Amino acid sequence: MALTTALVTGASSGIGYEIARVLASDGHDLVLVARREDNLRQLAHYLEREYKVKAVYIAVDLTDPQAAQRIYDAIQEQNIPIDILVNNAGFGTWGAFTASYTDRDVEAIETNVIALTQLTKLFSRDMVKRGLGKILNIGSVSSFMPGPYMAVYNASKAFVLSFSLALRSELKGTGVSVTVVCPGPTDSEFHQVAGTLDLPMLKQVNLMGSAQVARIAVRAMHKRKAVEIPGLLNKITALLPRLLPTRFVTWVTKQVLRPPKR
Ligand SMILES: NC(=O)c1ccc[n+]([C@@H]2O[C@H](COP(=O)([O-])OP(=O)(O)OC[C@H]3O[C@@H](n4cnc5c(N)ncnc54)[C@H](OP(=O)(O)O)[C@@H]3O)[C@@H](O)[C@H]2O)c1
Repeated sequence: MALTTALVTGASSGIGYEIARVLASDGHDLVLVARREDNLRQLAHYLEREYKVKAVYIAVDLTDPQAAQRIYDAIQEQNIPIDILVNNAGFGTWGAFTASYTDRDVEAIETNVIALTQLTKLFSRDMVKRGLGKILNIGSVSSFMPGPYMAVYNASKAFVLSFSLALRSELKGTGVSVTVVCPGPTDSEFHQVAGTLDLPMLKQVNLMGSAQVARIAVRAMHKRKAVEIPGLLNKITALLPRLLPTRFVTWVTKQVLRPPKR
């Protein structure tokens, strides 16, 4: 019998796909959320076959302001208590702020910030009532520093870090924990979506595998840790902005993220 049910957003690829796999291998039933229905269907079938858990999916665009409520209502209808909420869905955009499409920036905020907040609000209330639950939010090393040329993305991930730590503190003693995991550059579809494949820094670092990030993230969540940063280099990258002047950190980040001249 499954232990509990976990809802994972952004389960159609990358880190979210792997988190769903780790949770299923531990015996958790799954509710999988993302836009690409085919990917979700295939993953649900695979998890049911491989790990003998129940996996359902909801294909939804999290930029839709009604998305979180629709997900919540669909789950209520099926009477599935969610004990683990993984807010993983997210994307970034790379390039000069003034040159990029406003819509993409707004969609990033809607996905990375607004949907995450709405889902947390809806599901955390029920968790607190039951006195039981774990919330895992996916931030980034970008959470720790302003990111010229990825200004909106870094700001959205700074929100995820700050929000998670604050909510964790509020929920202390309720039986509900909040963990924020802040990965560094990871091998997934992220860089294709963000258009960062040409970023010189990416060619110089070893990308961590999504499966490894997922294992670290789930372990941190089960230990009810506040913050987890996978990998030593990423831990150092996240620590430096807290030791150095923000102006200098922003300048360094600008050099790293500056698009190459064509
Ligand atoms: N890869 C990295 O280097 C890295 C580093 C630090 C943090 N992160 C964070 O890790 C998380 C997972 O990203 P990833 O690396 O695994 O990238 P990914 O492979 O591109 O996965 C992103 C997931 O988010 C979903 N998603 C994106 N926009 C959505 C929307 N509007 N509605 C519903 N779902 C949406 C995608 O599904 P659909 O396209 O099917 O909707 C996909 O499942 C993100 O929050 C990202 O910011 C990534």
